[in-house]
Amino acid sequence: MNQTFSKVNKVTGTLSFLGDKSISHRALLISSLANGKSYMKNISDSDDVKSTINCLKELGIKFELKNNEAVVFGKGFRGYQKPLNPLNAGNSGTTARLLAGILSVQMFESILIGDESLSSRPMKRIIDPLKKMGALVQSSNGKLPIKILPAENLEAISYTMPVASAQVKSSVLLAGLHLDDETIVIESMQTRNHTENFLNLKVDKEEGKINSFVSKKNYPEAKEYFIPGDISSAMFFIVLTLLTKNSELVINDVSLNPTRTECLNILKVMGGNIQIDEKGISNNEVYGNILVKSSDLSNVKIDNEIIPLIIDEIPILAVAGIFADGVFELRGAVELRVKESDRIKAICVNLSKLGLDIEEFEDGFRVSGLIKKQSEPFNSFGDHRIAMACAILSSLLEVGGRVEGFECASISNPHFLKQFYAISS
Ligand code: S3P
Repeated sequence: MNQTFSKVNKVTGTLSFLGDKSISHRALLISSLANGKSYMKNISDSDDVKSTINCLKELGIKFELKNNEAVVFGKGFRGYQKPLNPLNAGNSGTTARLLAGILSVQMFESILIGDESLSSRPMKRIIDPLKKMGALVQSSNGKLPIKILPAENLEAISYTMPVASAQVKSSVLLAGLHLDDETIVIESMQTRNHTENFLNLKVDKEEGKINSFVSKKNYPEAKEYFIPGDISSAMFFIVLTLLTKNSELVINDVSLNPTRTECLNILKVMGGNIQIDEKGISNNEVYGNILVKSSDLSNVKIDNEIIPLIIDEIPILAVAGIFADGVFELRGAVELRVKESDRIKAICVNLSKLGLDIEEFEDGFRVSGLIKKQSEPFNSFGDHRIAMACAILSSLLEVGGRVEGFECASISNPHFLKQFYAISS
């Protein structure tokens, strides 16, 4: 589907977002492990979260889903039933990698598959630590499909993460959740901490290391909670508001987890008028309201250590960067090469359609110069965040723009267009 966007002259209004995608995945997966009914308000209805629900259904978990509320009928410790079909994670890396951790400690065989994009993404990063725990995980090329066989004598491990990835960390923690002894995951760079929050894990920070501890003692109980709105989905509208004259937007009840708000901090340092009002905590997750107003932005240096904390926001941050004074440069982000698309390439290809000066590096890119042409359509590369970043970019151009393959936006936010038209004129 090609989607055309006209130039937006003004943004006003209030938006709220369905539950954060990362938290929603964890809420469903972890509740399915608990014994009995868990109730969650504001669950995401993104395609990715639907993939998690479908996999869990294959494993015998029942759900009631109505009005953005979910009831999950958890089956308790090792209570899943053996799946009759391969578990299809669709486009969702979080589903595949977190579920692989849980499946590694079950007493039945299972197979994980995904769509074309997910099937090309690296899985060795989870296979290695899970094998270290004694899990029997098979893959012919370190990618999906993965076959997981029942294993005996699984062991708790101490695992130093070779790559900054919340999905890998969570995969190991969710496997460790089934073992008597303590599993420790050691990070040298902070990544999003929703799994630790959800399971209320002990986390120690010392000398540049973050150690998370898990064992069967942390096994979850069924409970009730509100899932804060998706801050990564909100970020597209925050950037649109900042860059549109005479504009003001309120965002309600969105996640303000500090491992997710670093992009807001960067935009503020760039000169963004952004006010943050913390309102509460649900299940260890902070949430609140954000007020954004039109601002003049200037580019700033982005430190390598915070890349994992802005990893999903880089496409929209790059859009902010090209309308800000100075040069936008990002390094240390080689992980972008193995996201839903090669996001470094996708960003560089799309921005070069504007006649900007682009330098592409293995681990990032630099953009300078002025917009010289505005007529070629942008390409989503089948990647939801590229699609939405290009939509915002189009709506900031004098002549508007077109995004080819826009339908993939529903992978994280099926409501993007409705929200966009509700606040822009
Ligand atoms: C996610 C972690 C990140 C992020 C992804 C969601 C999660 O991936 O890019 O969109 O829910 O844990 P990595 O762990 O691969 O960095």
